[in-house]
Amino acid sequence: MKNYDLLLFGFGHVAQGLLALLEQWHADHPEGPRFRIVGIQTGRRGSVYKSSGLDLRELQGIGRGGSLADLRSGHGLERDLSERALLERDADFQLELGPGNLETGQPALDRCRDSLRQGRPVVLADKGPLVCGWTELQQLAQDYRAALRYEATVMAGTPCLRFLKDNLAGQRITRIEGLFSGSCSFILRKLEQGEGLESAVIQAKKEGYLEADPRADLLGWDTRSKLQILAAHIWGKVLAKEDLPVQGIEGLDPDRVQREAQAGRRLRLLGELRLRDGRPQGRVRLEALAVSDPLARLEGVQNGLRVSCEPLGSLLLCGPGAGDRVTASAVLLDLLDLTRV
Ligand SMILES: NC(=O)c1ccc[n+]([C@@H]2O[C@H](COP(=O)([O-])OP(=O)(O)OC[C@H]3O[C@@H](n4cnc5c(N)ncnc54)[C@H](OP(=O)(O)O)[C@@H]3O)[C@@H](O)[C@H]2O)c1
Repeated sequence: MKNYDLLLFGFGHVAQGLLALLEQWHADHPEGPRFRIVGIQTGRRGSVYKSSGLDLRELQGIGRGGSLADLRSGHGLERDLSERALLERDADFQLELGPGNLETGQPALDRCRDSLRQGRPVVLADKGPLVCGWTELQQLAQDYRAALRYEATVMAGTPCLRFLKDNLAGQRITRIEGLFSGSCSFILRKLEQGEGLESAVIQAKKEGYLEADPRADLLGWDTRSKLQILAAHIWGKVLAKEDLPVQGIEGLDPDRVQREAQAGRRLRLLGELRLRDGRPQGRVRLEALAVSDPLARLEGVQNGLRVSCEPLGSLLLCGPGAGDRVTASAVLLDLLDLTRV
């Protein structure tokens, strides 16, 4: 049984989900690897480090709202470290669970660079560093032999990236399309049920389904960033955001959604990539799907991915695309994977 020390950047929904999953994992697998959270940095609630590990129960008590200053001052607890000081502390794996900046990837991108250069593997739920620094981070990971894992970034806990890379290894993937924004599907479903756009957005926010910057979901940027990650992950091709025309749901007339519904169709935000002459092309658009289409039948924040590949043909993977423990389960999957490297 080996201990693995984790440095967490971000202590919101996903981090809280991870605390619960780690407790369960340790209880269910007394002989398995054990994970200790040694350091945490938040945006406004300070930072802490304790080389012998922080108490998981106490951290759960603090939750998303409490301050890290409320942690009992046990032996060796350091408070209010700068980001630099925290990055220099000992830890086996770095977890990027911060809010995500799709424009610059910062500050997480710099932290990823730093950790990889130290040879420390990084696990991301935050898409920003991948979208803004894919080639550089992959190169650093290779040069410094430090793994980079990011299963949670697309379809949250539904392991689509592993499915595409591992289960479909040997297939020639020619096209993918899917619903990658649980929050947009949730809002569009509410509109079908007669709600107004503003009230549907408020509900999605209340449920914690929207990104810290809701424009990322509503303008389709979040789906676009997932297409960028998928194109690089599947085909090794980095697409700039300008390569992917995008349409969102902001300003959408609810009557249009209802008219489609009455005609037996469901308007959904579809992300699509096709391989043309060896290069992926794609876009994000509102598409009226027949209700018989399995993608149209997904409920709540479910995500769905349809893959066309040879020789298997068409395959569908569906599952939850948001939620604290759901997303944390992909982070745990990556962590377990790293313990086997
Ligand atoms: N939630 C989901 O269902 C889901 C699904 C897939 C992927 N993701 C991705 O996972 C990441 C985390 O999501 P979440 O729902 O847990 O977000 P969240 O609840 O908004 O939490 C974000 C956390 O990041 C902290 N933070 C802010 N600025 C920071 C900085 N400069 N350095 C370090 N930490 C900082 C915040 O601090 P304060 O607590 O002080 O505000 C907060 O603790 C996001 O990138 C998101 O896109 C989430």
